[in-house]
Amino acid sequence: MGARKIIIDTDPGQDDAVALLLALASPQELDLLGITCVAGNVPLDLTAKNARIVCEAAGKTDVPVYAGKKAPLNRPLVTAEHVHGQTGLDGPELWEPQMPLAAGNGVDFIIDTLRHETPGTVTLCTLGPLTNIAAAFNTAPDIIDRVQEIVMMGGAYFEVGNITPAAEFNIYVDPEAAEIIFRSGAPITVMPLDVTHKVLATKPRVAAIRALGSKAGHFTAEMLDFFERFDVEKYGSEGGPLHDPCVIAWLLKPELFSGRHVNVEIETQSDLTLGMTVADWWGVTDRQPNALFIGDADAEGFFKLLTERLARL
Ligand code: RIB
Ligand code: CA
Repeated sequence: MGARKIIIDTDPGQDDAVALLLALASPQELDLLGITCVAGNVPLDLTAKNARIVCEAAGKTDVPVYAGKKAPLNRPLVTAEHVHGQTGLDGPELWEPQMPLAAGNGVDFIIDTLRHETPGTVTLCTLGPLTNIAAAFNTAPDIIDRVQEIVMMGGAYFEVGNITPAAEFNIYVDPEAAEIIFRSGAPITVMPLDVTHKVLATKPRVAAIRALGSKAGHFTAEMLDFFERFDVEKYGSEGGPLHDPCVIAWLLKPELFSGRHVNVEIETQSDLTLGMTVADWWGVTDRQPNALFIGDADAEGFFKLLTERLARL
């Protein structure tokens, strides 16, 4: 079977960067058609710059990187420099990327790619707010049925929120976009905080990545050394949660994960719980299941996969 065709929609962000590196290190399994950037952790100009820095750090500058939406559908942008630093990639020494942005908008690239590829053969991997995907679905509803799967990092249920008591950041930034996706009918697999908080970049795990002795290994270790500080201080955890790489690891080794197919609705009205992913985990409503909501992961197996793949760069 050929490599799986994917588009990664992202707001780098150190954990996005590790997800990109994992995908770029796995060309036998993943055919990365393009990277579309969205405003989220930091503004769009920085997420679009950071995605290209990561491609150059991986030595993979043939992947087109597009700029997408610079603000949520109907709300002002909320960013997360308090987590990711002012650059969005604080930690390693950064540089001005040489590779140019691809011509055109990321939303148009998503639409055109889904229209031209065989239906059911392109997976959308979303690592940030869902603005680009929702904009594409609004503009071209015909592409929805052509999506193979949406694998997203977002939401939280048992783990509750990280940007508010009720909401996870990616969903909170653009809840209307998330509502469009969850009501679209497209096949969805969700990596919420419930599982991402179980894959922590502990010091031994980061040391094993640094010990690879490569540019990509050093770059990753430097990012994770910075990225951990917020969560260690806030949660008292033993390392930074590798949220976004769970999306790519799902495509490479789904057996590392377990979850439940449930109904997920998005709160878009209440200021108190805006952006909450209301997952009907116990089936107490008659709402139809619309997402595979992942709750657990084999963390050791995840980091074994990640470290082994980073060694290939
Ligand atoms: O809440 C975690 C998510 O928000 C991750 O995707 C992180 O990169 C930020 O975008
Ligand atoms: Ca992200």
